[in-house]
Amino acid sequence: GITRHYQFDVEMANVTRLCSTKSIVTVNGQFPGPRIVAREGDRVAVRVINHVPYNVTIHWHGVRQLRSGWADGPAYVTQCPIPTGRSYVYNFTIVGQRGTLFWHAHISWLRATLYGPIIILPQLGVPYPFTKPYREVPVIFGEWWKADTEAIIHQALQTGGGPNVSDAYTINGLPGPLYNCSAKDTFKLKVKPGKTYLLRLINAALNDELFFSIANHTVTVVDVDGVYVKPFDAETLLITPGQTTNVLLHAKPYYPNAMFFMTARPYATGSGTFDNSTVAAVLEYQNPSRSSPAVFAKNLPLHKPTLPAFNDTSFAANFTGRLRSLATARFPANVPQTVDRRFLFTVGLGTSPCPKNQTCQGPNGTKFSATVNNISFASPTTALLQAHFFGQSRNVYSPDFPVVPLMPFNYTGTPPNNTLVSNGTKLVVLPFNTSVELVMQDTSILGTESHPLHLHGYNFFVVGQGFGNYDPAKDPAKFNLVDPAERNTVGVPAGGWVAIRFSADNPGVWFMHCHFDAHMSWGLKMAWLVLDGELPNQKLPPPPLANPSLLPLVRK
Ligand code: C2O
Repeated sequence: GITRHYQFDVEMANVTRLCSTKSIVTVNGQFPGPRIVAREGDRVAVRVINHVPYNVTIHWHGVRQLRSGWADGPAYVTQCPIPTGRSYVYNFTIVGQRGTLFWHAHISWLRATLYGPIIILPQLGVPYPFTKPYREVPVIFGEWWKADTEAIIHQALQTGGGPNVSDAYTINGLPGPLYNCSAKDTFKLKVKPGKTYLLRLINAALNDELFFSIANHTVTVVDVDGVYVKPFDAETLLITPGQTTNVLLHAKPYYPNAMFFMTARPYATGSGTFDNSTVAAVLEYQNPSRSSPAVFAKNLPLHKPTLPAFNDTSFAANFTGRLRSLATARFPANVPQTVDRRFLFTVGLGTSPCPKNQTCQGPNGTKFSATVNNISFASPTTALLQAHFFGQSRNVYSPDFPVVPLMPFNYTGTPPNNTLVSNGTKLVVLPFNTSVELVMQDTSILGTESHPLHLHGYNFFVVGQGFGNYDPAKDPAKFNLVDPAERNTVGVPAGGWVAIRFSADNPGVWFMHCHFDAHMSWGLKMAWLVLDGELPNQKLPPPPLANPSLLPLVRK
């Protein structure tokens, strides 16, 4: 592979949407941000220079970061943030991945405007295992607030309430014609009849899973989270924040001058408020040649797709269940067949006491909180990876994340009276190459709600899912250990559970969290510490010398 160099100047820019202008944080003045394009096997070096009045980090979401944890990006997990006026070089190699991933800010709510595609092409001369597309098009979903998003999350955390919901969803930064004032801010995809297009879908929205559909068209799903899947056709897709999906769009042979809506709106399971508006983009057929018959006259009304009901959980479960790894000789599914450590983590919402002299807007005057195994993660002020590597973990984190679940317990039954959570900066420590099975169980403590859980530094296999309480006596018999989907983000079903497996072959500190920023801000996050192996190529190398300013610690 070669090295691909990028420079990201993080700078403010004025952007107008929904008839109001605000100053947002961008990369190189672009919104959405620039694409990273690399082939499998290439090295990527991105110099990020911070020119804005906020601390910044960038995360390369889904990039495995094999032994390059220093480049992963979550603030205070693998690095201290880049202060105003300073820079940091993210240096990593793309190993064994091909498809679409994305980059986004990983501090506070800056990812509301700081995101862009990562496009991973196969190695030179290696074809796709599906029809070669005529063109490839990134389609990024986002959320737009008229107000300043940093002010919104700051206020929510101060008052303990829920943050204001967004004013619009966007496709490639544009809300589309169904919102006031936005007809001119519509993403248009012009296609040629008969051609095949690869759409690289990315859900970069902060707080909503989305249904997506193109009127009168069926698409073929070929890749999720940078891993090929067995192709299947779908009229509607579900994509959670943090997930990416590559689909083939087969333009029909004759539709000259016809236009179709592509729309997205939320799949929402919680009892809280959400933005139930619809973003639309337009698929427009170009006239292939002057001699072709015009089947549709110009200016026909647009064709609109129908999307499932906002709370259609059975659609969600069916769609997820259709995803399967290729599991071929060329693209094997290396599912761990044996397990060294089994974990059950509950994920869900809860409450924290309201600080004295404060009025809180959460349930019964408390503050909203969210947990993994009833621990709401407290962010440290020293990066966990630095503290670990330099042997200075005392006062930064403790390795005692509770791994013994309080069984038996009815996680999805009547909520308990006591919804208070604990706080802490606790890690699970795993020896190198531990084979892990993790069941994530949604709780009903403050209402059942699905949670898109994202693991850094790894892909995992989604071996099982179900509703109600996970049953360790019965459910494992139904696990798919042959061709389960391999991905980095999975929706824990509302009122249900999901089981994943992975091999801890990547030393470092790896964040795992709900990819709803509201829940992440409330503490639905934890971290794994994967220790070095014995061999030199099983150890995390020292931090890059190119970034000395961020390494205040001295090795003992
Ligand atoms: Cu896409 Cu930890 O994030």
